Amino acid sequence: YTVDWDVTAAEKGGYEWFMAKEIDEQPKAVADTLLGRVGTDGRLQLDEMRLSDDELREIDKIIVIACGTASYAGLVAKYAIEHWTRIPCEVELASEFRYRDPIIDRSTLVVAISQSGETMDTLMAIRYARQQRARVLSICNTNGSTIPRESDAVIYTHAGPEIAVASTKGFLSQMVACYLLGLYLAQVKGAKYGDEISHVIDELHAIPAKVQRMLDEGDQVRKLAADLVDRRSFLFLGRHVGYPVALEGALKLKELAYVHAEGFAAGELKHGPIALVEKGLPMFVVVPPRARDQLQEKIVSNIQEVRARGAYTIVLVEDGDDSVVPFADVVIRLPRTPTLLQPLVATVPLQIFAGELAELLGHDVDQPRNLAKSVTVE
Ligand code: AGP
Repeated sequence: YTVDWDVTAAEKGGYEWFMAKEIDEQPKAVADTLLGRVGTDGRLQLDEMRLSDDELREIDKIIVIACGTASYAGLVAKYAIEHWTRIPCEVELASEFRYRDPIIDRSTLVVAISQSGETMDTLMAIRYARQQRARVLSICNTNGSTIPRESDAVIYTHAGPEIAVASTKGFLSQMVACYLLGLYLAQVKGAKYGDEISHVIDELHAIPAKVQRMLDEGDQVRKLAADLVDRRSFLFLGRHVGYPVALEGALKLKELAYVHAEGFAAGELKHGPIALVEKGLPMFVVVPPRARDQLQEKIVSNIQEVRARGAYTIVLVEDGDDSVVPFADVVIRLPRTPTLLQPLVATVPLQIFAGELAELLGHDVDQPRNLAKSVTVE
């Protein structure tokens, strides 16, 4: 009598792919990354901060460095950190950072974002930053990995192990950690900056249920993938924090489905990309919440422009906003969320879409060709 015991299958917990499991774990990844970080007095506490309030008050510039998906979390961080703290924040690909002679000193906070904590480009960038005396804080999902060990401070994301090469729960938890960092810096800077903190914390605590809703509604996106399985090119448009979401949606499709996919800032459309639009081209558009009137109106006109040229428009838009419905071939509804937090919900259908398309095309969803989970060479 033998038991047919497959460790990998057991770890997948009934899922065919680790990625599908990890997408489904996102409500927990977000909740766990928030857990224990808000005291009973409503103030944020970050245990591995290791930089004193005085040191943090000296920071006059933030540079976020990361690769791939983690760099998109960095782009989201820029919008949030600058808005909440008024500290200038740049985002740079880790592979470019060292080679441009960046202006950094003791009052610069370099924030390295890495799920694995072992990405060589990011590691080399923080080593360089520390040689220049910058303070380095890392946002990392892997306890005790090299990048947090070589950093002055760490905010761990608590997503649990991410096995699939394509980052999903790692990305959402990185964004949560970036929000926590921004809010923490605002708290340290004092009352004038702190008004929004408790409101945003409440909104963050409401996110896991909203992510769960996106998962529960995943069949709509799976069906869409089946409808579009023969397409070889996809475009993604977004504005503000919807722009990094567009980049992430495109990267997921490239790495998993091996199709041409590009993300654009919607305002750039008429500066070039609109020339790509032809009949039937699938175009995902992330619409900012209605609260951001100007942004929202502009993107509605972008949708009209591409639709008039034959694009097949798939519009991600919050509940209750019907302004885009006349120009949408498909409407994917998002729960209402403050603008800055919208990427936490808007990313989810794009992950599901990419995973499903890859599966329909017969690709190995967890281990796409030519890719490694952590890139330990420069
Ligand atoms: C994401 O789906 C990619 N596989 C890749 O872009 C990844 O995010 C990047 O290599 C950075 O990895 P890290 O977070 O482990 O540093």
